[in-house]
Order: sequence, then structure tokens, then C-alpha cells
Amino acid sequence: MADAPLVLGIETSCDETGVGLVRGETLLFDAIASSVDEHARFGGVVPEVASRAHLEAMVPTIERACREAGVTLRDVDAVAVTAGPGLAGALMVGVASAKALALALGVPLHGVNHLASHVAVDIVEHGPLPEPTLAMLVSGGHSSLLLVPDVTHDVRSLGSTIDDAAGEAFDKVARVLGLPFPGGPHIDRAARDGAVVIDFPRGLTTGRDMERHRFDFSFSGLKTAVSRWVAAREAAGEAVPVADVAASFQEAVTDVLTRKAILACREHGVGHLQIGGGVAANSRLRAMAQERCDDAGIELRVPRPGLCTDNGAMVAALGAQMVLKGRPASDLGIPADSSMPVTDVSA
Ligand code: KG4
Ligand code: ZN
Repeated sequence: MADAPLVLGIETSCDETGVGLVRGETLLFDAIASSVDEHARFGGVVPEVASRAHLEAMVPTIERACREAGVTLRDVDAVAVTAGPGLAGALMVGVASAKALALALGVPLHGVNHLASHVAVDIVEHGPLPEPTLAMLVSGGHSSLLLVPDVTHDVRSLGSTIDDAAGEAFDKVARVLGLPFPGGPHIDRAARDGAVVIDFPRGLTTGRDMERHRFDFSFSGLKTAVSRWVAAREAAGEAVPVADVAASFQEAVTDVLTRKAILACREHGVGHLQIGGGVAANSRLRAMAQERCDDAGIELRVPRPGLCTDNGAMVAALGAQMVLKGRPASDLGIPADSSMPVTDVSA
């Protein structure tokens, strides 16, 4: 696709300033600047700090992406940006930057959904998405099962978390175990030296809960169960076996996620499962999903870990699909929509 449209994608919904360049279905470069270290001591992302960091990182990150991709801004055929959901102030920096670029370059603007972008990024990794695809999105802010007939305009929600998101559960449990923020990668690492010896609860998987919430998730009960387990150990003056708790907790999360995702594929007659979002970087989730998909005859697609966590390539990938499929551009007046529903692919 040498003459396919070149799309620059900007992502600022949380704490990573991402700028990706995608030509057609090929990723040219993905530049990321993260403010995660500035938030670590607060144990969570501080919105004002994130917005300020985006402002400072935006221009240098755009310049780096262009330089590394060997293109100039004049080569860009369209600008895509995360219009939502996410932190309002953080989103605003990206949306304002994208509008300015689109206006200055005289190219169309595509305001897109962060969640649909997590699905679309797999196109630059594994080629065109089968239609429909069943997608499971597991990040710090969201856990959803989606039926995706067309990632550029038809994304349907089958279920989502009714309390904490999967990544949020990882981050909170990490805190209980004294591991740094963001906790997901630390639990992943700690769990490698541990054994699954504690039977933590699997929320919404049995009886009436399962009937009422077939494709929904709940992780807050699991988080509480881990806290209580750890507190009981500490009260008894015993050492907390961090690696075993991490492994057992991680097993409970991945068991529920993969079970429901495969059930959704079966019930909707879909032979492909795509997993995206930061938690899709988890090594146990990737291994278990592969095993269970192989057993079920389902093709599994998970991008490399660096494309699972927030990045600009995912936004450029979805923007490029919008252009290739001739979807209408967004108005230059679009707002940053912090609570953009997952079913709205574009603004
Ligand atoms: O998609 P993402 O980068 O940002 C959001 O849109 O939320 O996801 C961040 C989340 C954090 O909660 C982080 O702890 C989790 O993804 N995460 C992981 C791993 N890497 C990142 N969770 C489990 N295992 C990992 N290896
Ligand atoms: Zn995300």
C-alpha cells in the first residue's frame, strides 16, 4: 500500500502522550511519552498532572514520530485523535492539537473512540479484522465484551464490568501487596515466582448472577477477598506470600475473563477473539486465552504488549480504517467527550 493514505493518530486519554503514523494498514512509527512516573507516588493518575505533561510532550512527540517514520507533516493525509472516553483535561490537549494540525495542514479530522482504537490496533499487527470479531477490552478504565461487525461504525456491547475494571483490580491488589503503581506489570512479574494456591472468588460466574450478568464482569469482590486474606495473615503476625497471592489473584481474573469471552464467541457464532487494552499485556491472560481458544477452535488475536497499553498507533490504525472505508470526517468543532459510549466509534 505505497500510496495508501498516511494517518497521524494522537492519543491523550490518560497518562500516555501517543503519536502514531499508519499508512493504510502498516505501522510506520509509534512514539510515546509517558507521565506515569509523575503519578506513581500518588498511587494513581492525577488528571491535572497528566494534562500538563501532555501539553509539554505533544510537539516533541509529533516531531519524533515524523522523524522516525521518515515523513513530514506535509505527507499526512488525515489526522485522527482520541475524542473519548478518558480524562477530560487530558483529552482536550489531544483534541485541540489534532484540530490545529488538521486545520493547518488542510486535511480531514477523525475524532475516534479510545476503546474501538484498542480493537483496531490489531489490524497493523495481524492484518484486516474478520467481520464480525468478538473483542474483549481490558484496561485500567474498562472491561467489556464487544461484538464488532465493523470497527469503523458498528461496535455492540455484550457486557462490561459492573464495578472495577480489570486493570483497576490489578492496580488495587498491587497496592495491598505493597507493589508500585501501575500494579499490573508488577503482579504479572511477582506471579511468575508464585503458585496458584488460594481459591479466590470468580464474580458473576455462577447461578443467578451468571444468568443476570452473562457477559458482565465484577472484580470488586475479588479485590476485597484479597485484602481480607492479606489482612488476616498480617493480623496473625505471619508473612504475606506475595508471589502466591499475586498468582492466585491473577488466575481468578484471567479465568473469568477467558471463560466469558469464549462463551460469548460460542453463543454469537464468532470464530475470532481479539483481546486489547493494557491488561491484554498480561502474560498469564495471553497464555490461558491461547490454550482455551485452541481447545475451542477459536482464532485468538492479541497485539504485542506495547500495542495493548495506550499508544498513538491504535488511534492512527482506526483513523486509517475510517479513511479507507470512506467514513465521514468529524467536524472541527467536536468536543472532548470524557464519557463517550463504547458504541460511538467516531465523534
Ligand atoms: O489500556 P491502558 O494502558 O490504559 C487505559 O486505557 O486504562 O491500561 C492500563 C492498565 C493498568 O491498570 C495496568 O495495571 C494494566 O493495564 N496492565 C497490566 C499489565 N500491563 C498493564 N495488567 C496486568 N498485567 C500486565 N502485564
Ligand atoms: Zn486504553
